[in-house]
Amino acid sequence: MAEAIRVMGICGTFSTDSANGRLLEIAFKHCESMGAECVKWDNSSPLPFVGEEGCWDDESVKSFQNTALSSDAFILSSPEYHGTMSGVMKNNLDFLSYDQTSNKSFALMSTLGGQSNSNTLNHMRISVRWIHGWVVPEQVAVGNVRSAFDENGDLVDEKLNLRIRDMARSLIDSAEYLRSKR
Ligand SMILES: Cc1cc2nc3c(=O)[nH]c(=O)nc-3n(C[C@H](O)[C@H](O)[C@H](O)COP(=O)(O)O)c2cc1C
Repeated sequence: MAEAIRVMGICGTFSTDSANGRLLEIAFKHCESMGAECVKWDNSSPLPFVGEEGCWDDESVKSFQNTALSSDAFILSSPEYHGTMSGVMKNNLDFLSYDQTSNKSFALMSTLGGQSNSNTLNHMRISVRWIHGWVVPEQVAVGNVRSAFDENGDLVDEKLNLRIRDMARSLIDSAEYLRSKR
């Protein structure tokens, strides 16, 4: 039997106790039901800033890069800050290169305090192109995030949950295809 697809989740907040942390959990549940293994990168001891002295030799950076290297697919979930991805997400992406991410699939999600839009998703799509990742067309933006989850942490709008399921299916299928080409 083929080895399980390994999915790395990267959150655009320091704590995964956030709307984006919750979205990653929901996406992971769908991926796991499709036989994938999921690992969430823990930003609680944050990476240094790219460009800080010695940043490329930092142990947490090496661990981040090694986790990425051993993954077949990625889910990025970022809050929208001033019309784009958070600084935490951008800094994490800046520590990746095509060495870790070439021919691997990506899925994108974002949350917004206001109306749903695709700014953050589009900006993350551009960054991922620069590290030679393949972003699946399905994507999820959760607007009005403060009222988007119920008391159990599930999405109030079942259609969003189904979008995440379809996105997960596409991520796993494309990761399997791309792994066969590596
Ligand atoms: C600095 C900052 C900028 C923000 N800019 C936007 C914005 O441009 N558009 C928007 O809809 N919400 C904006 N928000 C609200 C965040 O998107 C919202 O708090 C976030 O999606 C919640 O997700 P989290 O719980 O994972 O942090 C902003 C929040 C902060 C702190």
